[in-house]
Amino acid sequence: MSAQESNNTSPENIPSSESAQHSQEQDRFYDAIDRERLANSLSSTQPIELEIGSGKGLYLIRTASENPDRTYIGMELATKYAREAQEKLDKGQITNAVFLACDAVAVLANDIPDNSVAAVHVYFPDPWWKSKHKKRRVLSDETIVNIERVLKLGGELHFWTDVLDYYEIAIPRIVELTKLQGPKYVPEPPALHAMDFRTHFERRTRLNGLPVYRSKFIRNT
Ligand SMILES: C[S@@+](CC[C@H](N)C(=O)[O-])C[C@H]1O[C@@H](n2cnc3c(N)ncnc32)[C@H](O)[C@@H]1O
Repeated sequence: MSAQESNNTSPENIPSSESAQHSQEQDRFYDAIDRERLANSLSSTQPIELEIGSGKGLYLIRTASENPDRTYIGMELATKYAREAQEKLDKGQITNAVFLACDAVAVLANDIPDNSVAAVHVYFPDPWWKSKHKKRRVLSDETIVNIERVLKLGGELHFWTDVLDYYEIAIPRIVELTKLQGPKYVPEPPALHAMDFRTHFERRTRLNGLPVYRSKFIRNT
């Protein structure tokens, strides 16, 4: 069994009733506060960046504190992770980011306007190993098309994974379905300290000596 298959924090291990419940369009926000937070963030005049599956929030918390002139929206299916990450933002008085407890696939499809965001980040999405479950992957054809739709000219898609199979399936679909330019090479910076990784899953993967497959696409037309 690989590291990913044994990962018991993965939502593949969240009871299916929870996943099913939140995959429905009418239930894509967990409660009104998430809808309000999204509306506030989308009204920002700063460049807006989205993260699909923000997990425990390491990437957005750090990046938002370093870039106060940008607005960040983390979308996370697991309520506990989204709420704990929001608490860290609140404690740190980081006001240019929010974490929404929501189904990011449905929110992207229904609530994010065309040409509205400067970047979409998808880091270590759940692999859904079994063939019959692969259609549940967040980077589906529908999501890929929606990512291109919401990106502004010059906007970027960042997709990293430790699952070669995911990378080898998703990259050709992005190339076939969109006019996004890529995949562009993304170098791996050295980690200067124990938390010097973009996300928790990047940290786990690299500390286990496993490769990370990274890509960047740019909307040029
Ligand atoms: C393997 S974890 C990676 C978390 C984080 N990006 C990282 O690299 O550490 C995948 C995350 O995606 C979330 N997720 C899966 N499907 C989702 C969906 N439809 N909407 C929002 N989040 C989702 C899971 O709950 C989980 O926290």
